[in-house]
Amino acid sequence: MRVIAIDGPAGAGKSTVARACAEALGLEVLNTGAMYRAVTYAAISAGADTSDNNACTKAASSAKIELSDRVLLDGVDISQEIRGALVTSEVSTVSAHPGVREVLVEKQRLWASQHGGAVVEGRDIGTVVFPDALVKVFLTASDSERARRRVIDEQSAGREANFADVEADLARRDATDSGRSISPLVAAKDALILDSTTMAIDEVVETIVREFLKREVLQ
Ligand code: DC
Repeated sequence: MRVIAIDGPAGAGKSTVARACAEALGLEVLNTGAMYRAVTYAAISAGADTSDNNACTKAASSAKIELSDRVLLDGVDISQEIRGALVTSEVSTVSAHPGVREVLVEKQRLWASQHGGAVVEGRDIGTVVFPDALVKVFLTASDSERARRRVIDEQSAGREANFADVEADLARRDATDSGRSISPLVAAKDALILDSTTMAIDEVVETIVREFLKREVLQ
């Protein structure tokens, strides 16, 4: 399948890079973080305990998630709500549940096959979801640069954010996402490791697009 897997910690620039690569190659983008956020929102709305695997898995199985430039849950636009403080603080807990991951990984594979491939961003895309992706990227950036970018994103979306809180939240989520026993955030052995602190975004995108076109010809 024509898949580019982009993994990395929060704030590394995955969404920006994924969108630009997709545009250059005529592919769709699948933001899997938005799916974990939608399930977290569904679980909280249903009054479920977010530390309960079974309750969260039930929320994941019954959630009808539609992704385009908006995120719909059972037909309702929740694009704003999934970026709020409550979902952001609970999403690492919910996404660590094996049942939730099983349900969402299946949805992600189906989505990509129905769309003829995609640029897929997340944490376990190159390691678990699409181990045969044509190109795998692990995108990083320094902690302070990631926090700086998140503050700008939050403020431009009209939400309050201060550097120390955002930096602490990123550190906490990185620790949970990297330390969980199932599908932890790690670079795939054959991933291109790119650092967007030292590389301009255009340069990152060009590197990925070039690699994709080269590998597609070789297939
Ligand atoms: O990309 P994001 O920050 O919106 O992702 C939100 C959370 O979802 C992140 O803290 C970890 C989880 N996630 C995951 O476990 N696996 C993925 N493939 C994508 C996101």
